[in-house]
Amino acid sequence: IPVQPFDYVVFGATGDLTKRKLIPALYHRFKDGQFDESSRIIGVSRSKLSDAEFQTLARDSVAEFVEPAYQDKAVIDRFASIFSYVANDVADEANWGDLRKALRDDPKIVRAFYLAVGPDLIGPICDYLSKKKFYRRDARVVIEKPLGHDLRSSQEINDTVARIFKEDQVYRIDHYLGKETVQNLLALRFANILFEPVWNTTHIDHIQLTVAESVGAGTRGYYDESGALRDMIQNHMLQLLCLVAMEPPASDDADALRDEKLKVLRSLKSIIGEAVGRCTVRGQYRGVASETTSVKGYQDELPEDKRGSRTETFVALKAEIENWRWAGVPFYLRTGKRMATRVSEIVIQFRSIPHSIFDHAEGAPRPNRLIIRLQPDEGVKLLMMIKDPGPGGMRLREVPLNLSFAQTFEERTPEAYERLLLDVIRGNQTLFMRRDELEAAWSWVDPIREAWTRASDAPQPYSVGTWGPTGAIALIERDGRTWHEDG
Ligand code: BG6
Repeated sequence: IPVQPFDYVVFGATGDLTKRKLIPALYHRFKDGQFDESSRIIGVSRSKLSDAEFQTLARDSVAEFVEPAYQDKAVIDRFASIFSYVANDVADEANWGDLRKALRDDPKIVRAFYLAVGPDLIGPICDYLSKKKFYRRDARVVIEKPLGHDLRSSQEINDTVARIFKEDQVYRIDHYLGKETVQNLLALRFANILFEPVWNTTHIDHIQLTVAESVGAGTRGYYDESGALRDMIQNHMLQLLCLVAMEPPASDDADALRDEKLKVLRSLKSIIGEAVGRCTVRGQYRGVASETTSVKGYQDELPEDKRGSRTETFVALKAEIENWRWAGVPFYLRTGKRMATRVSEIVIQFRSIPHSIFDHAEGAPRPNRLIIRLQPDEGVKLLMMIKDPGPGGMRLREVPLNLSFAQTFEERTPEAYERLLLDVIRGNQTLFMRRDELEAAWSWVDPIREAWTRASDAPQPYSVGTWGPTGAIALIERDGRTWHEDG
C-alpha cells in the first residue's frame, strides 16, 4: 500500500549516509510500489549541484549499493526523476528561497526533514526552518547519531530541536530498531504464549548480548572521539536489552512501548565506583602480521597526532536490572571492532533443571538456551535435550530446534532504513527513540565513561580476529559462566 505523498527534504544530501543507506532504502520502497508517484525527494547540501547531477548521484548510489538482482533500469529512471536538489549553505540566508520553490504547500503532502548532518548544524537548520516558515505542525524531523556525546550535549541537541518541533514530530533513529530481526523480538516475546511464563529470574540464569564486527574503526574520523561505549552500547545494545527485558506493553502504540523501554533503562543498576573495574572491560585491537596476512591495529590506522589514543574499540560489561523480573539475572553485553567474525546475537540461558533423573544416563542434561541470531544468518534456535535415538540405554544429547529465516522465507530481508524512512511518513514513532529514553541511556553510560577517563590504565589489547581481551573472558568466567560461541 503506498504511503501518503511526501516531500522528503534531506539535509546532508551528498554525504555518506545518504549514498550508502538512505537512497538505496528509498529505492527498494519505490520499486515495491510504496511511493505515491507524486512524492519528491529534495536534496540539500552545500555543494553546487544541478537537479540532473543529483539524479546522477542517486543512480550511482543505486548502482553501487543495491544488489544487482534488484536493479531495474526502467524503475531507476522513474526513481531518479523524483529527486531534485537545492544548494544551500545553512548559514547563508540568501539560499533558502530555492527550498521554498521546491516544497509544495499542500497539507495532503507529508513534509519531512531528514537532518543527515553533524550535531552542530541541527540547531541552525531547525531555527531556519521555523524562521523561513517551512515549519508546519504536522511536519516531521528526523535526526541521527551521534545524538550527543554525553547527557548534557544530548540534552542540548534535544532542547534545540524542541524549540521548534514537538516531541511527536521528532524521529530519532537507532537503525537497530529498524532491523527485521530486532522487530522480530517483539513477535517472539508477545505473539507466543510459550516464552512469557519463563521469561524471568525463576527460569533464566543470565542473558548475553553480542554485537561483534569484523570491520575496523580507524579510518572513520569520528570514531576516535566516540569509542565503542558511545558508538554501540549507549544506543543499539541498550535498545536490544530493553526489548529483551521490558514488560509486555499494553499495545503496540509508540508510547506504550517506549514507556516500557524507559522503565528498563531506569531500572539499570548504576555502574559506579569500584563496580566499574569489576563490571566493565574495555579493549583496543592490536594488529597482526603473519606471512600470509597483515591487518593493522587501531593505533596504526590513526593519523600521527592521534597515536597513543585510549579510545576503546571493544567493550564487555555486566548489567543488572533492579526489578522483580530480573533480580539476580546478569545481562552480559559485548561489542567490538575487528573481532573474530561478524555476528549479532542474543542468548537466553535458562536455569538447570531442579532435579535430574538421569544419573545413570550418558551425558548430563544441559540447561536450555534460546539463541536469537540478529545477523547474519538470521534465525532463532532453541537448544534442548533429547534422547539420542537407538536401542542402547538413555543417552542425552543437546540438539537445536532451528528456525533459519533464509530457509523459511524466500523474500529478501529489507534493510533497517526501508522501514524507518517510511514510518516517518506514516507518522509511526514506535521504532524511534523518545527523548527521555535517550537521556536515560546517557545517564547510565556517563559514569562508566567518566571512570574510564579518570583511570590510569589503557584499554586492554586484543589481537585482530579474536573475541576481545582476556579481561572479557574473565568478566563472565568469574561468575562461573562462559560466552556463547558457536560461530
Ligand atoms: C553504527 C556504528 O551505528 O552501527 C558503527 O556507528 C557500526 O560503528 C554500525 O559499524 C553497525 O551497524 P550494522 O547494521 O552493520 O550492525
